[in-house]
Amino acid sequence: MAIERVVDTSIHEDDHEEAIAEISLRPVTFDEYIGQKRLKTNLKLAIEAAKKRGDVMDHVLLYGPPGLGKTTMAGVIAHEMNANFRATSAPSIEKAGDLASILTNLTDGDILFIDEIHRLRRAVEEILYSAMEDYKLDIVIGKGPAARSVKLDLPRFTLIGATTQTGNLAGPLRDRFGHQYRLEYYANADIQKIIERSAKILETTIDADAAKLLAERSRLTPRIANRLLKRVRDYADVNGDGKITVDVAKRALEMLEIDELGLDPADRNMLTLMIEKYGDKPVGLNTIAALTGDEPTTIENYYEPFLMQLGMIQRTPKGRIVTDIAREHLGL
Ligand code: ADE
Repeated sequence: MAIERVVDTSIHEDDHEEAIAEISLRPVTFDEYIGQKRLKTNLKLAIEAAKKRGDVMDHVLLYGPPGLGKTTMAGVIAHEMNANFRATSAPSIEKAGDLASILTNLTDGDILFIDEIHRLRRAVEEILYSAMEDYKLDIVIGKGPAARSVKLDLPRFTLIGATTQTGNLAGPLRDRFGHQYRLEYYANADIQKIIERSAKILETTIDADAAKLLAERSRLTPRIANRLLKRVRDYADVNGDGKITVDVAKRALEMLEIDELGLDPADRNMLTLMIEKYGDKPVGLNTIAALTGDEPTTIENYYEPFLMQLGMIQRTPKGRIVTDIAREHLGL
């Protein structure tokens, strides 16, 4: 990514700073997890049923825009199942053997979390099929005429896959998930609660109306809310007594150039360029990427979902169109 943006939804270095300080903003239990009510209701039922049967839960696919808490929810499921949580991501599993090694090192009841599961390589994905379906590992030993196939028993485990792009997931893989849930954008009131909870953990005082203001600019996304909170806390520590009031929050957001809807200079720049160069004609993803100097996947995953949620951009078969809502917001 070209510039590190406060409001983007990718994971930044400083999102790990709590991990180093051994404090975590991530909720651990369902009770602590704010929002995603439908998802929680369904998962609670599935967990209770699995526990009653003394079995593992069916595999779970969590999809939706980045930053909404897919990894966090996977950790909560593991906690509520009293299970070990093993987390990895598809790009780090290079060969079929890497996955075979992960699978054979699991123990009964473990939760295996694979982030960005749409990015699994074909050969790796194929190993998953029988592992998910009947807890068997199908491997080929040797090469040429001497090659033979062996089947190993695996422990009973639950796979939790997370993806931002369910459309890019191969059908046979998707079909093997008994539970498939979409994480939704959060209501502002829930984002405000998350900010207030995080402030408590970070031992920062924040006024309710300041938390509300930050929530309104957090793009309905907890990851952004927590990051904004930390940046505003920095500002309050340096320019005041550390207390976050509406006035402090406003000044900090102005410095960060984040507007009333949570758009930052990169969003406004992209929309402005699209309007200036293409007016109301559709623009292809690669063209937009060339305009802003970002990767097409960055545009697709990090700029677009929220701008579409706001109705500022529409996707058509011919490309993306900027709407009047965006023009009005930009004053064009
Ligand atoms: N921190 C990040 N996401 C959260 C959530 N959904 N609930 C509570 N705290 C959070």
